[in-house]
Amino acid sequence: MFSYSYEDYKETADWLLTHTKKRPKVAIICGSGLGGLGDLLEDKTMFSYKDIPRFPASTVPGHAGQLVFGKLQGCECVCMQGRFHFYEGYNVQTVTYPVRVFFLLGVETLIVTNAAGGLNGAFNVGDIMLIRDHINTPGFAGQNPLCGHNDERFGVRFPCMSDAYDQELRVLARQTAEEQGCSSFLQEGVYCMLAGPTYETIAECRALQMLGADAVGMSTVPEVVVARHCGLRVLGLSLVTNKVVMDYESSDRANHEEVLKTTQHRAQDLQRLVSHLVAKF
Ligand code: 6GU
Repeated sequence: MFSYSYEDYKETADWLLTHTKKRPKVAIICGSGLGGLGDLLEDKTMFSYKDIPRFPASTVPGHAGQLVFGKLQGCECVCMQGRFHFYEGYNVQTVTYPVRVFFLLGVETLIVTNAAGGLNGAFNVGDIMLIRDHINTPGFAGQNPLCGHNDERFGVRFPCMSDAYDQELRVLARQTAEEQGCSSFLQEGVYCMLAGPTYETIAECRALQMLGADAVGMSTVPEVVVARHCGLRVLGLSLVTNKVVMDYESSDRANHEEVLKTTQHRAQDLQRLVSHLVAKF
Protein backbone atom coordinates (compact mmCIF):
# COMPACT_ATOMS: atom_id res chain seq x y z
CA MET A 1 0.00 0.00 0.00
CA PHE A 2 1.25 3.46 -0.90
CA SER A 3 2.28 5.71 1.96
CA TYR A 4 4.38 8.76 2.69
CA SER A 5 6.84 8.80 5.58
CA TYR A 6 6.82 11.30 8.44
CA GLU A 7 10.02 12.71 6.92
CA ASP A 8 8.22 13.55 3.65
CA TYR A 9 5.63 15.72 5.40
CA LYS A 10 8.34 17.16 7.64
CA GLU A 11 10.51 18.15 4.69
CA THR A 12 7.61 20.04 3.12
CA ALA A 13 6.65 21.74 6.40
CA ASP A 14 10.24 22.71 7.24
CA TRP A 15 10.74 24.16 3.76
CA LEU A 16 7.62 26.31 4.19
CA LEU A 17 8.69 27.37 7.70
CA THR A 18 12.02 28.58 6.36
CA HIS A 19 10.41 30.37 3.37
CA THR A 20 7.82 32.34 5.33
CA LYS A 21 7.72 33.92 8.76
CA LYS A 22 3.97 33.41 8.90
CA ARG A 23 2.62 30.91 11.45
CA PRO A 24 -1.06 30.36 10.66
CA LYS A 25 -3.39 28.67 13.15
CA VAL A 26 -6.10 28.20 10.51
CA ALA A 27 -5.96 26.34 7.20
CA ILE A 28 -8.66 26.70 4.57
CA ILE A 29 -9.21 24.25 1.71
CA CYS A 30 -11.23 25.94 -1.00
CA GLY A 31 -13.70 23.95 -3.06
CA SER A 32 -14.18 24.20 -6.81
CA GLY A 33 -14.94 27.79 -7.78
CA LEU A 34 -14.47 28.93 -4.18
CA GLY A 35 -10.78 29.76 -4.35
CA GLY A 36 -11.59 33.47 -4.44
CA LEU A 37 -11.20 33.40 -0.67
CA GLY A 38 -7.45 33.11 -1.14
CA ASP A 39 -7.44 36.38 -3.10
CA LEU A 40 -9.01 38.18 -0.11
CA LEU A 41 -6.04 37.47 2.13
CA GLU A 42 -3.94 40.49 3.04
CA ASP A 43 -0.17 40.70 3.24
CA LYS A 44 0.07 37.56 1.10
CA THR A 45 2.90 35.11 0.59
CA MET A 46 2.18 32.59 -2.17
CA PHE A 47 3.79 29.32 -3.18
CA SER A 48 2.94 27.44 -6.34
CA TYR A 49 2.45 23.73 -5.50
CA LYS A 50 5.11 22.82 -8.03
CA ASP A 51 7.72 24.86 -6.15
CA ILE A 52 7.07 23.21 -2.76
CA PRO A 53 9.27 20.15 -2.07
CA ARG A 54 7.29 16.86 -2.08
CA PHE A 55 3.99 18.70 -2.50
CA PRO A 56 1.64 16.98 -4.99
CA ALA A 57 1.32 18.69 -8.36
CA SER A 58 -1.99 20.01 -9.72
CA THR A 59 -3.21 18.25 -12.83
CA VAL A 60 -6.18 20.47 -13.62
CA PRO A 61 -5.39 23.22 -16.12
CA GLY A 62 -6.78 26.59 -15.07
CA HIS A 63 -6.64 25.70 -11.38
CA ALA A 64 -4.53 28.07 -9.33
CA GLY A 65 -2.62 25.31 -7.55
CA GLN A 66 -1.07 27.47 -4.88
CA LEU A 67 -0.77 27.87 -1.13
CA VAL A 68 -1.55 31.38 0.05
CA PHE A 69 -0.41 32.59 3.47
CA GLY A 70 -1.91 35.81 4.77
CA LYS A 71 -4.39 37.55 7.03
CA LEU A 72 -8.15 37.19 6.73
CA GLN A 73 -9.90 39.85 8.83
CA GLY A 74 -6.77 39.95 11.00
CA CYS A 75 -6.50 36.16 11.39
CA GLU A 76 -3.35 34.44 10.08
CA CYS A 77 -4.47 31.75 7.60
CA VAL A 78 -3.05 29.45 4.99
CA CYS A 79 -5.35 28.81 2.07
CA MET A 80 -5.23 26.06 -0.56
CA GLN A 81 -6.34 27.42 -3.89
CA GLY A 82 -7.02 24.19 -5.74
CA ARG A 83 -7.41 20.87 -3.96
CA PHE A 84 -6.60 17.32 -5.03
CA HIS A 85 -9.57 15.13 -5.89
CA PHE A 86 -9.65 11.34 -5.81
CA TYR A 87 -11.42 11.33 -9.21
CA GLU A 88 -8.41 13.02 -10.78
CA GLY A 89 -6.47 9.84 -10.10
CA TYR A 90 -4.70 10.81 -6.87
CA ASN A 91 -4.72 8.22 -4.12
CA VAL A 92 -6.26 9.23 -0.78
CA GLN A 93 -2.80 9.65 0.80
CA THR A 94 -1.95 12.27 -1.82
CA VAL A 95 -5.35 13.97 -1.56
CA THR A 96 -4.71 14.47 2.17
CA TYR A 97 -0.97 15.25 1.99
CA PRO A 98 -1.45 19.00 2.65
CA VAL A 99 -3.43 18.37 5.86
CA ARG A 100 -0.50 16.72 7.65
CA VAL A 101 1.75 19.51 6.41
CA PHE A 102 -0.66 22.02 7.98
CA PHE A 103 -0.51 20.08 11.24
CA LEU A 104 3.31 20.25 11.21
CA LEU A 105 3.10 24.00 10.51
CA GLY A 106 1.20 24.40 13.79
CA VAL A 107 -2.28 24.78 12.32
CA GLU A 108 -5.05 24.00 14.83
CA THR A 109 -8.22 24.49 12.80
CA LEU A 110 -9.16 23.27 9.33
CA ILE A 111 -11.97 24.86 7.33
CA VAL A 112 -13.10 22.94 4.25
CA THR A 113 -15.52 24.14 1.61
CA ASN A 114 -17.07 22.30 -1.32
CA ALA A 115 -19.79 22.36 -3.93
CA ALA A 116 -22.42 19.69 -3.39
CA GLY A 117 -25.69 18.37 -4.77
CA GLY A 118 -28.74 18.79 -2.52
CA LEU A 119 -30.47 15.55 -1.49
CA ASN A 120 -32.60 17.06 1.29
CA GLY A 121 -35.90 18.19 -0.23
CA ALA A 122 -35.99 21.25 2.05
CA PHE A 123 -32.73 22.60 0.63
CA ASN A 124 -32.61 25.22 -2.11
CA VAL A 125 -29.98 25.82 -4.73
CA GLY A 126 -27.62 28.41 -3.26
CA ASP A 127 -28.03 27.24 0.34
CA ILE A 128 -24.92 26.87 2.48
CA MET A 129 -24.87 23.71 4.59
CA LEU A 130 -22.86 23.46 7.78
CA ILE A 131 -21.58 19.90 7.75
CA ARG A 132 -22.68 18.14 10.94
CA ASP A 133 -21.44 14.69 9.95
CA HIS A 134 -20.32 12.71 6.92
CA ILE A 135 -20.69 9.37 5.18
CA ASN A 136 -17.40 8.12 3.81
CA THR A 137 -18.41 5.83 0.93
CA PRO A 138 -14.85 5.50 -0.45
CA GLY A 139 -13.99 4.37 3.10
CA PHE A 140 -16.67 1.66 2.81
CA ALA A 141 -14.77 0.51 -0.29
CA GLY A 142 -11.34 0.42 1.35
CA GLN A 143 -10.23 3.91 0.36
CA ASN A 144 -9.54 5.38 3.80
CA PRO A 145 -6.40 7.55 3.99
CA LEU A 146 -5.51 6.02 7.37
CA CYS A 147 -5.24 2.47 5.99
CA GLY A 148 -1.70 1.12 6.28
CA HIS A 149 0.98 1.70 8.89
CA ASN A 150 -0.09 4.15 11.63
CA ASP A 151 2.47 6.76 12.64
CA GLU A 152 1.66 7.68 16.26
CA ARG A 153 3.29 11.07 15.78
CA PHE A 154 0.16 11.99 13.81
CA GLY A 155 -2.47 10.16 15.83
CA VAL A 156 -3.94 6.94 17.17
CA ARG A 157 -4.55 3.73 15.23
CA PHE A 158 -8.35 3.84 15.65
CA PRO A 159 -9.47 7.47 15.71
CA CYS A 160 -12.99 8.44 16.77
CA MET A 161 -15.09 10.09 14.05
CA SER A 162 -18.34 10.71 15.94
CA ASP A 163 -17.24 14.27 16.74
CA ALA A 164 -15.49 15.00 13.45
CA TYR A 165 -17.21 18.36 12.88
CA ASP A 166 -16.66 20.70 15.81
CA GLN A 167 -19.86 21.68 17.59
CA GLU A 168 -18.49 25.00 18.88
CA LEU A 169 -17.36 26.03 15.41
CA ARG A 170 -20.80 25.27 14.04
CA VAL A 171 -22.40 27.46 16.71
CA LEU A 172 -19.93 30.24 15.88
CA ALA A 173 -20.63 29.84 12.15
CA ARG A 174 -24.38 30.07 12.75
CA GLN A 175 -23.90 33.22 14.84
CA THR A 176 -21.67 34.75 12.14
CA ALA A 177 -24.20 33.87 9.44
CA GLU A 178 -26.86 35.80 11.36
CA GLU A 179 -24.62 38.85 11.67
CA GLN A 180 -23.74 38.67 7.98
CA GLY A 181 -27.32 38.24 6.75
CA CYS A 182 -26.74 34.66 5.61
CA SER A 183 -29.02 32.80 8.01
CA SER A 184 -31.98 32.66 5.59
CA PHE A 185 -29.97 30.27 3.41
CA LEU A 186 -27.93 28.48 6.07
CA GLN A 187 -28.66 24.79 6.57
CA GLU A 188 -27.06 22.00 8.53
CA GLY A 189 -26.72 18.35 7.60
CA VAL A 190 -24.86 15.24 6.56
CA TYR A 191 -22.41 15.31 3.64
CA CYS A 192 -21.88 12.12 1.70
CA MET A 193 -18.74 11.70 -0.39
CA LEU A 194 -18.75 9.56 -3.51
CA ALA A 195 -15.56 9.02 -5.51
CA GLY A 196 -16.97 10.54 -8.71
CA PRO A 197 -16.40 11.71 -11.40
CA THR A 198 -19.87 10.55 -12.49
CA TYR A 199 -22.84 12.27 -10.93
CA GLU A 200 -25.32 9.97 -9.19
CA THR A 201 -27.97 7.82 -10.80
CA ILE A 202 -31.53 8.27 -9.61
CA ALA A 203 -31.35 4.98 -7.70
CA GLU A 204 -28.12 6.12 -6.03
CA CYS A 205 -29.69 9.42 -4.97
CA ARG A 206 -32.63 7.58 -3.45
CA ALA A 207 -30.26 5.21 -1.66
CA LEU A 208 -28.16 8.09 -0.27
CA GLN A 209 -31.27 9.85 0.94
CA MET A 210 -32.36 6.70 2.77
CA LEU A 211 -28.91 6.55 4.37
CA GLY A 212 -29.52 9.98 5.87
CA ALA A 213 -27.38 12.14 3.61
CA ASP A 214 -28.46 15.74 2.94
CA ALA A 215 -25.82 16.66 0.36
CA VAL A 216 -23.51 14.72 -1.94
CA GLY A 217 -20.14 15.61 -3.38
CA MET A 218 -16.76 14.29 -4.47
CA SER A 219 -14.32 15.68 -1.91
CA THR A 220 -13.66 16.80 1.68
CA VAL A 221 -14.07 13.54 3.62
CA PRO A 222 -10.49 12.19 3.25
CA GLU A 223 -9.07 15.55 4.36
CA VAL A 224 -11.38 15.64 7.38
CA VAL A 225 -10.46 12.08 8.39
CA VAL A 226 -6.74 12.95 8.33
CA ALA A 227 -7.32 16.26 10.11
CA ARG A 228 -9.24 14.59 12.93
CA HIS A 229 -6.59 11.89 13.22
CA CYS A 230 -3.98 14.55 14.04
CA GLY A 231 -6.33 16.50 16.32
CA LEU A 232 -7.28 19.50 14.18
CA ARG A 233 -10.67 21.12 14.80
CA VAL A 234 -12.77 20.96 11.65
CA LEU A 235 -15.47 23.14 10.14
CA GLY A 236 -17.04 22.01 6.85
CA LEU A 237 -19.25 24.09 4.57
CA SER A 238 -21.09 22.80 1.51
CA LEU A 239 -22.54 25.10 -1.08
CA VAL A 240 -25.65 23.45 -2.55
CA THR A 241 -25.07 24.11 -6.24
CA ASN A 242 -27.90 21.99 -7.63
CA LYS A 243 -30.67 19.65 -6.56
CA VAL A 244 -30.11 16.01 -7.39
CA VAL A 245 -32.55 14.23 -9.68
CA MET A 246 -34.84 11.99 -7.65
CA ASP A 247 -37.55 10.83 -10.06
CA TYR A 248 -37.66 9.14 -13.43
CA GLU A 249 -40.13 11.68 -14.86
CA SER A 250 -37.70 14.57 -14.41
CA SER A 251 -35.89 15.93 -17.44
CA ASP A 252 -33.31 17.74 -15.24
CA ARG A 253 -29.71 16.61 -15.63
CA ALA A 254 -26.81 17.25 -13.25
CA ASN A 255 -24.14 19.23 -15.05
CA HIS A 256 -20.95 21.06 -14.22
CA GLU A 257 -22.16 24.34 -15.78
CA GLU A 258 -25.03 24.66 -13.30
CA VAL A 259 -22.64 23.87 -10.46
CA LEU A 260 -20.27 26.65 -11.58
CA LYS A 261 -23.11 29.15 -12.06
CA THR A 262 -24.42 28.70 -8.51
CA THR A 263 -20.90 28.80 -7.17
CA GLN A 264 -20.29 32.18 -8.78
CA HIS A 265 -23.61 33.45 -7.43
CA ARG A 266 -22.88 32.49 -3.80
CA ALA A 267 -19.08 32.54 -3.59
CA GLN A 268 -19.07 36.05 -2.12
CA ASP A 269 -21.51 35.15 0.65
CA LEU A 270 -19.46 32.11 1.55
CA GLN A 271 -16.26 34.16 1.58
CA ARG A 272 -17.84 36.78 3.81
CA LEU A 273 -19.07 34.10 6.19
CA VAL A 274 -15.67 32.41 6.46
CA SER A 275 -13.67 35.62 6.83
CA HIS A 276 -15.91 37.05 9.57
CA LEU A 277 -15.88 33.69 11.28
CA VAL A 278 -12.08 33.39 11.48
CA ALA A 279 -11.97 36.97 12.78
CA LYS A 280 -13.54 35.55 15.97
CA PHE A 281 -10.83 32.93 16.56
CL1 6GU B 1 -25.29 16.43 -7.82
N1 6GU B 1 -23.14 15.18 -7.10
C1 6GU B 1 -21.88 15.10 -6.74
N2 6GU B 1 -21.37 13.88 -6.51
N3 6GU B 1 -21.08 16.14 -6.60
C2 6GU B 1 -21.59 17.36 -6.83
C3 6GU B 1 -22.91 17.51 -7.19
C4 6GU B 1 -23.68 16.36 -7.33
N4 6GU B 1 -23.15 18.84 -7.34
C5 6GU B 1 -22.00 19.46 -7.07
N5 6GU B 1 -21.06 18.56 -6.76
